[in-house]
Amino acid sequence: MGASGERALPRIAGKLILSGIQPSGVQHLGNYFGAVRQFIALQAHNRAAYFMADLHSLTSIRDARQRRELTRGVALDFLALGVDPKRSILYRQSDLPEVTELAWILTSVTPMGLLQRAVSYKDKLAQGLAPDHGLFAYPVLQAADILIWRADCVPVGQDQKQHLEMTRDIAVKFNLTYGEVLKLPEPYILEDTAAVPGVDGKKMSKTAGNGIEMFAPDKALRRQVMGIVTDSKGVDEPKDPDDSTIYKLYSLFANPEERAALAEAFRKGGLGYGEAKKALLEKVTAYFGPAREKRRELEARPDLVEDVLRDGAARARAATAELLDDVRAAAGVGPPR
Ligand code: TRP
Repeated sequence: MGASGERALPRIAGKLILSGIQPSGVQHLGNYFGAVRQFIALQAHNRAAYFMADLHSLTSIRDARQRRELTRGVALDFLALGVDPKRSILYRQSDLPEVTELAWILTSVTPMGLLQRAVSYKDKLAQGLAPDHGLFAYPVLQAADILIWRADCVPVGQDQKQHLEMTRDIAVKFNLTYGEVLKLPEPYILEDTAAVPGVDGKKMSKTAGNGIEMFAPDKALRRQVMGIVTDSKGVDEPKDPDDSTIYKLYSLFANPEERAALAEAFRKGGLGYGEAKKALLEKVTAYFGPAREKRRELEARPDLVEDVLRDGAARARAATAELLDDVRAAAGVGPPR
């Protein structure tokens, strides 16, 4: 995929890459530019495993059907955007139930104080979620997701940085307690997703409801783009591109010449916001056209997607079995070996 989309892509090779997405909402441009785009790129020169964190979504979504739909949606997104199941392992977290066993073993060496310092937990309480144990223990399950793979590298957005640090802290604590079994993963913090503003100009996020969703139906996508909030400058007035959400979003798709041309048109006056939004919409639909088409095809074949996930689960279980055996042996649970 095109243009400036190619800049700042990862130069990492020969590693085991692991990352997951929580199916807590429909994915948007911020998720794509902030994470998924890099997941796809990393496949080329690394081994990779990506998963839908449906067990994590238990902490925020309490509707079973909605969880299934969102989980399937994220799987479709991954596949449509280019996760290649022949190369990479794509699986549903709950299909690798061993992570929950590892999570329990880890939770038993995790200090309360560590979890109490989690910013994500405090944020979620501030958003009004009830403080239950799943929410509190969320980072331990995430640590299990990562450590079960002996992952080298975990690409995540800035907001997950602390969870990665906690993963390392928990691994150190386990290793000190039971012996050197767990591998400390390197965080790979992706470009700041704040570079992707939502339609209200604030950081694009699922909870803020300010997203532009690359897989929304045509009409809805149009509504989202045309709904970008602007000031009230008229067509002829000069406008400041650097202050414009439209310009910032357009920049994600455009090449340098196109970017310069839009900036120039803004500064000069004569280009209305409505026209600029239309140009942006065209960019979005052109950029994601093939992926949108592919996702529609996949949507019509749910059995095919389930086959991919079944295969992914089998490969994930095979690839992680040894680590779990080592952990059990070190901690003295299960049959002696
Ligand atoms: N907490 C991550 C998020 O909300 C999702 C996640 C769960 C994850 N387990 C993970 C990410 C393991 C990377 C590795 O985005």
